[in-house]
Amino acid sequence: MGRKERNRFENNEKVKELLKQPFHTEEEIKFIKESYTGIGGLTRSGWNNGQFFTPVEVAVFTKLMMGIEAGRVLEPSCGGGVFLDVLPPSCDIYGAELMSDAARVSEICYPQATIHQGDALEMEWDELFDYVIGNPPYGLTINNWDFMCGKKLKSEVAFIEYGLKWLKPGGILGMIIPDSILANQREKTFRKHILENHQLLAVVSLPTETFYHSGTSVKTSLLMIKKGHTDDNYSVFMSLCKNIGWDKRGNPNKESDLPAIYHEYLNSEVSHLNKDSHINLIESKDSKALSGQLALELA
Ligand SMILES: C[S@@+](CC[C@H](N)C(=O)[O-])C[C@H]1O[C@@H](n2cnc3c(N)ncnc32)[C@H](O)[C@@H]1O
Repeated sequence: MGRKERNRFENNEKVKELLKQPFHTEEEIKFIKESYTGIGGLTRSGWNNGQFFTPVEVAVFTKLMMGIEAGRVLEPSCGGGVFLDVLPPSCDIYGAELMSDAARVSEICYPQATIHQGDALEMEWDELFDYVIGNPPYGLTINNWDFMCGKKLKSEVAFIEYGLKWLKPGGILGMIIPDSILANQREKTFRKHILENHQLLAVVSLPTETFYHSGTSVKTSLLMIKKGHTDDNYSVFMSLCKNIGWDKRGNPNKESDLPAIYHEYLNSEVSHLNKDSHINLIESKDSKALSGQLALELA
């Protein structure tokens, strides 16, 4: 284990100690938020239960692309809660998480959300959701999910199907997924199922350094789907993010492409976003202004 990994490991251990306390000071909560990274990339046990957490920049981008301003929102594998953190306070927020430490971190840091600890795929909800957001576990074998696409696939597909099941008709799913879903022969039945039963809104390809800070270089994309079938003929927004804002060693480099991509989506004919509530941004045509907007979101 290198120095960086050892630091991550030690901080996680400190957080685990803090989690045993019934109450926490503001300072302790700040430490937990900043230091809990989960075990992804730190142990030799294969996929580490898929515990690779999303950078906050990507979580903000996902929320903006989905256009979440209010409504019921579910994060079915919330980890340390980064997606819960970026949702507007007007939302009714629910999170599910298998690992007890991560679920407790989300509970402590984001009391505005209702957190359920356990296997999300076994969870039932009283009402459907307007949005399902997140980054599911990748590559895990799943034995307790009846795949809608008819073929037994991995955890990432099970979580997308689960999200779609619990969305209202017309509701929107936005998830960071491994690119294998988009290209591999194995997932062909899944892609066919999505195209025949739902509306694919957007795919934004992310660079391999996106998850550097979580210890993986897996190639991912943002996948956005609207629940339910509309027309057979429609356009899909496709975009390639080349720069995420840091390099392969995690050092800040060129400016992130994400604000410009959001701006492009907002202005595109195929966007599902409510252009009226974003009128200032659309009129500004200046992606620097949008950078400001994203920066504001992150502040
Ligand atoms: C890729 S991580 C992402 C965490 C969080 N969504 C984020 O983006 O930072 C996937 C998370 O799913 C959790 N997980 C794995 N299997 C699960 C299950 N069956 N139900 C709920 N959560 C699960 C893992 O513990 C991990 O925290």
